[in-house]
Amino acid sequence: MGYETISVSPNTGALGAEVSGVDLSQPLDGRVVAEIRRALLENLVLVFRNQNITPEHHKAFAASFGELDIHPYSVPLAGHPEILEIVKEKDDRVNFGGGWHADMTYIETPPLGVVLVARELPPRGGDTLFANLYAAYDALSDAMKQRLEGMQGVHDAGATYGATGTKSRENQSTKVVITGQAQHSATHPVVRTHPETKRKSIFVNDGHTVALQGFSKQESKALLSFLFEHCEKHEFAFRLSWTEGTVVIWDNRCTHHMALNDYHGHRRVIHRVVIRGDRPY
Ligand code: SIN
Repeated sequence: MGYETISVSPNTGALGAEVSGVDLSQPLDGRVVAEIRRALLENLVLVFRNQNITPEHHKAFAASFGELDIHPYSVPLAGHPEILEIVKEKDDRVNFGGGWHADMTYIETPPLGVVLVARELPPRGGDTLFANLYAAYDALSDAMKQRLEGMQGVHDAGATYGATGTKSRENQSTKVVITGQAQHSATHPVVRTHPETKRKSIFVNDGHTVALQGFSKQESKALLSFLFEHCEKHEFAFRLSWTEGTVVIWDNRCTHHMALNDYHGHRRVIHRVVIRGDRPY
């Protein structure tokens, strides 16, 4: 079915589309929101170019998809608890989100989606990769699909934000709060059914999935390594090159993503707002 109020041009065979005909600094008509929602379900990542939006517009756009959530381990943008400011200064060597992950899967109800706004970009580089985890699931053999059915993945924030987690070893400018507590941990099905499309996707990610329930450490590691590598195949991916005024939304229930770290010596600032999701099944 085509669109009447927006234009949608897919970017790759796997996922991602450019959307035009929308000004995100203006209140959006219900029909436009409904078409953007449908485009998101069909393309998983939507890119809006040449937008000029304030933090209030950013939150209002994200709020048209659901309630907003707050990142539990970061210091938000002043005056905007819902906005995480992702900063890499020119002297930083490490970036935020630099490995494949889906956002906040360590909570019971991981985000439905995420909206990013480019605030300051390096002259080149700093692209973001996304991958389609429905396609990754579809590409598995029937035997592997059967084996994964009913399997549960353990997602743990401690691997990233705990006292010995990756963030505690990284020197970076995005303000993250490291605590020694066990923090958030949640168990989710390895094969998730999308609550709206009813399609199945792989739902583990290298950033936050630390084990498979009921499997030994060695077994978990072997199976998870296979799944992570499989989900990172190029044919499932789309590479977003940011331009000034770019706004992006992705469906966090059936994709994973990573921010490339190829622009040392330059500053990059992205604002992020997270839309609350539901419990995976
Ligand atoms: C993220 O992982 O949420 C950040 C992605 C980016 O900075 O491009």
